[in-house]
Amino acid sequence: MSKQFDVVVIGGGPGGYIAAIRAAQLGFQVACIDEWKNAAGGPAPGGTCTNVGCIPSKALLQSSEHFDHANHHFAEHGISATGVKMDVAQMIARKDSVVKQNNDGILYLLKKNKVTFFHGRGSFAGKAEGGYTIHVAGKTEEDLTAKHVIIATGSNARALPGTPFDEVNVLSNDGALRLGAVPKKLALIGSGVIGLEMGSVWRRLGAEVIILEGLPTFLGAVDEQIAKEAKKAFDKQGLKIELGVKVGEIVNGKKGVTVNYINAKGEAVVLDADKLIVSIGRVPNTIGLNTEAVGLQLDERGAIVVDGDCKTNLPGVWAVGDVVRGPMLAHKAEEEGVAVAERIAGQHGHVNFNTIPWVIYTSPEIAWVGRTEQQLKADGVAYKAGTFPFLANGRARALGDTTGMVKFLADATTDEILGVHMVGPQVSELIAEAVVAMEFRASAEDIARICHAHPSLSEATKEAALAVDKRTLNF
Ligand code: FAD
Ligand code: NAI
Repeated sequence: MSKQFDVVVIGGGPGGYIAAIRAAQLGFQVACIDEWKNAAGGPAPGGTCTNVGCIPSKALLQSSEHFDHANHHFAEHGISATGVKMDVAQMIARKDSVVKQNNDGILYLLKKNKVTFFHGRGSFAGKAEGGYTIHVAGKTEEDLTAKHVIIATGSNARALPGTPFDEVNVLSNDGALRLGAVPKKLALIGSGVIGLEMGSVWRRLGAEVIILEGLPTFLGAVDEQIAKEAKKAFDKQGLKIELGVKVGEIVNGKKGVTVNYINAKGEAVVLDADKLIVSIGRVPNTIGLNTEAVGLQLDERGAIVVDGDCKTNLPGVWAVGDVVRGPMLAHKAEEEGVAVAERIAGQHGHVNFNTIPWVIYTSPEIAWVGRTEQQLKADGVAYKAGTFPFLANGRARALGDTTGMVKFLADATTDEILGVHMVGPQVSELIAEAVVAMEFRASAEDIARICHAHPSLSEATKEAALAVDKRTLNF
């Protein structure tokens, strides 16, 4: 006998659990199925984001930043800290406890919203009268039926062909977040978001870090001026990034990993490292969903094909988050989850892809929303640019971190903000103001005329907006 629901959500990551909560708020009977297991075999909802992504990476970034500050920045404040040691096991245990708090929080939220949680793998068993039957294989086996199914099964790390992850020497994001000791020499392939964040963690803790990037440009999706500024800071820190390399044979040996590659000058290089992190992007995950049973359409990358409203080729079947097109970001997955639940309820859920912020949580942090200068040039848009350096910001000086800048790009005629790009301290928080401004279709002058607290880093945002009209007050 199958259990009847209005909406069944497969996947309990940020896309899935948020969709389930929103659907329940809208009055539907909702089930959420997630298969992630904690170390004890119990449920650990929250997906990649909570278990091996956003949350644990930020926990390690925080711990390693404290260590870095104690070693290199306390002295200038008059604090002497000699013999500072890193207890990696304690750092990892703290990270695990942060993850568990989030897992437990999600279980609590599902219960509070009367979402029925199933721990196990969900797969399509077939079409049922007026909907679909979903089979759950966990400790027990059950069948659920629903008119609407939301798929939020996320993504997995992409492996290099011929070099599978063993999570001992060749690490995905999973292994990279639970190393038992600081490797002496750490190689990474891919200088994207994971490469830079994970490379930063282990460099701060004392590893020699070498990141090999296939493309000749650094952070090609980022505004060029911002990427250049960030690269300068990473070079200064000793984070070695080699661009334009061609990775060849990788040998996973007893003592470590050997990476053979051709560098940008065409020279053959042999790199011996203790550990290798492969961070070359992620692939949509539909493993075990049994999409064939119902004829769900996938594209050539294995992503579920959806339209602008996250509708699949099957009536009543929706898909959100990393398993569909678009940026692989937790907040994008969440927005899609909310929008789908609202569409099922006959409302007009909407996701504005033009105002999805990006943040890279390195030091300096990098954050942006909207179009880059190179995109505006390519699109033939007439624009004005304004920048303001943190060097001229009082709060940044007091903090002891004046790296970077805020940059505004505004329409040359209307002054509407087209993009805001930041590199520097705490810009992960500053970017929110730019997102709000762009959602409200503000002009640069709107931001320039708003009172910002003094002294605050946000004054750099106001000053960059003033710079669009060449009238900064503090630079
Ligand atoms: P996921 O979070 O992957 O969740 C999918 C869930 O579905 C998983 O729990 C999985 O077990 C479950 N599942 C899959 N198939 C089935 C099935 N058949 N039955 C039952 N359950 C199933 N994004 C940010 O926005 N900010 C960050 O700072 C950030 N940092 C990251 C750091 C790292 C190291 C990584 C790897 C990613 C990071 N991301 C970050 C990306 C972010 O984690 C993803 O975009 C986000 O998790 C996608 O959410 P999702 O719900 O689509 O999928
Ligand atoms: P990525 O797409 O950010 O970067 C991958 C990098 O690897 C690119 O620069 C690419 O050119 C390079 N590359 C690909 N194949 C290569 C090869 N064979 N040899 C050398 N270089 C190669 O992917 P990443 O870092 O794996 O992260 C996956 C996704 O996870 C991100 O795109 C992002 O959506 C998400 N994420 C988000 C974070 C955040 O929001 N702060 C943090 C971490 C991940």
